[in-house]
Amino acid sequence: MPIDTSFYDKESVIYSRKRYEGIADTYIKWLFQSRRKKVVQLIGWLSQTKDTLRLLDYGCGDGIITQAIVEGYSTKFATIVCSDISSEMLRIAEIKSPSKDIIFALPQDLPELEYNVILALGFLNPAVHAAEIAYFQTHLKPDGLLICTLSSKYSLPSILGLREKEYIQKYMTYKQYDRFWQKDFEVVQKIPNGLFVPKLWAFPKLARWLQPKMEVVMSILWTSAFHEQIYVLKLKQKS
Ligand SMILES: C[S@@+](CC[C@H](N)C(=O)[O-])C[C@H]1O[C@@H](n2cnc3c(N)ncnc32)[C@H](O)[C@@H]1O
Repeated sequence: MPIDTSFYDKESVIYSRKRYEGIADTYIKWLFQSRRKKVVQLIGWLSQTKDTLRLLDYGCGDGIITQAIVEGYSTKFATIVCSDISSEMLRIAEIKSPSKDIIFALPQDLPELEYNVILALGFLNPAVHAAEIAYFQTHLKPDGLLICTLSSKYSLPSILGLREKEYIQKYMTYKQYDRFWQKDFEVVQKIPNGLFVPKLWAFPKLARWLQPKMEVVMSILWTSAFHEQIYVLKLKQKS
């Protein structure tokens, strides 16, 4: 069955404005902005160890993460490819592109390349995306990294508000994700992101001060409560 892209097709024109623009004054902006910051930091760390990198931003949306990476580390990338199932997202990403050299392609039109880094941020679920994960496995360089986000069945947003949603039913626990990855990947790092605290963002000034402190404490006490984990994964070397 073809995937329904209508939500993200419509959302494409306001995607970044709602999630990334300006100072965080909602939980959603906090979540997306801190994810971007953490991913860009990871790329910075990677850039120190490689001469030039080849990057695939899969599920790129309107290209906001690629933009931040190019702004920070433009000379580090020999090739950047952006892909999304939503042709509207891809169209907007191309219009906003920070460089003429970035390749934009629907998943079925991707060039046959191997990558040092593949990003899959904000959509991946192993229970649904087996074909995508198989693609990542066959298109990562042997020492390449897959950086992706996964949301847990038992995160606070899942427990408190979204439990009835069909897509939540397909989420796993973080322990189950760990076991899933360990079959073919080494889990290099896991970074919790986006602790949802009910009502906190009704007071944005207070929230901006309190949220990071609560996240530090909760990342020690109760990681499963976070909305997502950023997984940094490396292919296991076959002996
Ligand atoms: C929440 S947005 C994330 C966009 C961007 N990566 C970010 O972090 O802001 C999810 C994006 O993934 C895309 N997407 C969802 N399922 C996909 C799939 N199976 N293959 C490629 N893109 C997909 C959607 O069209 C949407 O643009």
